[in-house]
Order: sequence, then structure tokens, then C-alpha cells
Amino acid sequence: QDWFINCVVKAKTSLSPENLLFYLKNMETKMGRVHSVKWGPRVIDYDILFIDNKIIDTSFKFKEILESPERKAILLKGKTIVNMFFENSTRTKISFSLAEKRLGADSINFSSSTSSVKKGETLKDTIQNIDAMKIDGAVIRHGHPGSALKLTEYIDGAVINAGDGSHEHPTQAILDMVTIKEKFGKIKDLKVGIIGDILNSRVARSDIFALKKLGAEVVVCGPSTLLPSNAQKLGINVTHNIDEVLKWCDVVIGLRIQLERMHLGRIPSKREYHSEFGLTYERISKLKKDIVIMHPGPMNRGVEIDTNLADDINRSVIREQVELGVAVRMACLK
Ligand code: CP
Repeated sequence: QDWFINCVVKAKTSLSPENLLFYLKNMETKMGRVHSVKWGPRVIDYDILFIDNKIIDTSFKFKEILESPERKAILLKGKTIVNMFFENSTRTKISFSLAEKRLGADSINFSSSTSSVKKGETLKDTIQNIDAMKIDGAVIRHGHPGSALKLTEYIDGAVINAGDGSHEHPTQAILDMVTIKEKFGKIKDLKVGIIGDILNSRVARSDIFALKKLGAEVVVCGPSTLLPSNAQKLGINVTHNIDEVLKWCDVVIGLRIQLERMHLGRIPSKREYHSEFGLTYERISKLKKDIVIMHPGPMNRGVEIDTNLADDINRSVIREQVELGVAVRMACLK
């Protein structure tokens, strides 16, 4: 309890009363997930629960800048940012790199596969060595939940979580919110369905928190082996019937089936998953209204989504999501 109060006291200087209330209401759920790591004030600032219209509006401003002939806003001149990717990435890594360049920062890419991590150096030593070279900030993707929070204990600069294990992917959630707002002009009261591996998806977790915070209704759908047991606690509904979700929702977010977990037997086969839970052209074309199709990528075409649906620019905004990634990461870095 002392820890909790201390944490809120540290955080509250940067919170509006509305945000503080929301934070308190959701803290219990979050504590269950991150109880083993110590929270500091800098980290709380990056928490997805703090998403608000300000970061969304800032992202739209950067989108305009990226569409101008200049394409740059030199706001981070003289700052050095290291992108530390201990896990594979295409979209997040490149968009952070581009965002840093567009903001005029000195950007360094660290890849664990070509570093001394391969010789057995620990994460702590790796980070402290990088920090010794006087960096201003780090963007980290790591397979362990809580790694971004842990990083703040070792470096003085700002830290951005670019995906920590199955915990959260906050900047992906922000870009998903920006994509939805661009399409509908609002997020409040929209109905959003999230289909697939909710249990292991950091995107699902961050999207759920962001959508709830911004006033959307959320239903998750998938096989019971891939759904969290505490869904009701998160304030969301659960179903195993994808057709019901598609009839109900304005937006559907398909998630990657993590094929690397297939050996755990959570789904019988890719073919059966596609038939029961796949976003197929047949399912979508039966609907009486248009819905917006999203997917954070990378996609397993023909498994969680039909290839022709993913590429249908009248229905899918998957490319827009990637495009908006740079503006959103510029807003986060700023
Ligand atoms: N959406 C996402 O995080 O993609 P990458 O793994 O390619 O960064």
C-alpha cells in the first residue's frame, strides 16, 4: 500500500484529476501484471493509461509535417537516442529510426544479435555501457515483461517501451487510436472487436487500456485457450463467435497468431483457426454495414486474415496504420 501511494504521489504532478481517477481505478488490474517491478515517475509518464487527446492531436500535427515538402521538425537537435531491439521488428524499429531523423536527433541502432550480448554480456552491463556514452534517451524492445521499466533504473535518459514481452506495446496502441480517430473523427462510443490471441498479445493489452480510457466499447474474441481469465476485470466482454462481433462492431482489430507458440497446442491447426476465427472476405461481405479492418502486423496471411481482405483499401487501414507510425513516434519522442 505504501508503495502504491508513493507511486501515485510521484505521478500526480503530471496528472489531471480525471486522469488520476482513471489511474486509481485501473491500478489494481495493472499491479497484478507488473507487481515485480518498481515504478518510477518517468516510467509512469509513458504508461498507456495516460493516453489522452493531446498525444493524438500532436500525432496529427506531425502527420501534417510529414506530408509537407520539408518533412522535418528539428526539435531534438543535439539529442542522442539509442534504439535497443532485443527482439525482431520491422515497423516499430524503422518508424522510430525515421521519427528520430525527422526530428533532427542523432539516432543509433543497437541490435542484440550483433552485440556483445552474444558473448554473454548481461542486459544490465549492456545498458550501463551504452549509458556511459551519454545518451539522452532509449527506445527498447525486449522479450521480458517489465524490461522498459527496469531500464529506467540503469539509465538517466528517457525510456520508451517499444514492446516488452507479452506485457504492453504502448506506441502501437497510440497509433491504433490515431488511425481510428482519423477514420471516424472520434473514439468515444465506438464499438471495437479484437480477434485472436488476446492472452499473449501486448498489442491487445495496450489497445484495451487505450480504448477503454478513451470511451470505446471493447469485445474480445478467440478460442478460450487464447483469452485471458480476467477479461471482465478489464471491463471488456468476451465471445467465441466471430460473426457476432463483426455484426456488432465499427472496427475490428485482427491479431497475429503467434505461430511460435503453436507447439503448445493452443489451437488445433492453422486451417481450423482460419475457419473459426479468421477475418475472411466471405464473413465481411455478408455484413450489412462497412466496418474498418485493422491489424498491427506482422500478418499471417491466410490464417488470421484473408490476403485479399488485408489488401482491400476500401475496408482495410493496415497500410495507414504503418504510415501513421512515424508521426506517432515523433509525438512520443517529443
Ligand atoms: N506492430 C509491430 O510491433 O510490428 P513489428 O514487430 O514489425 O515492429
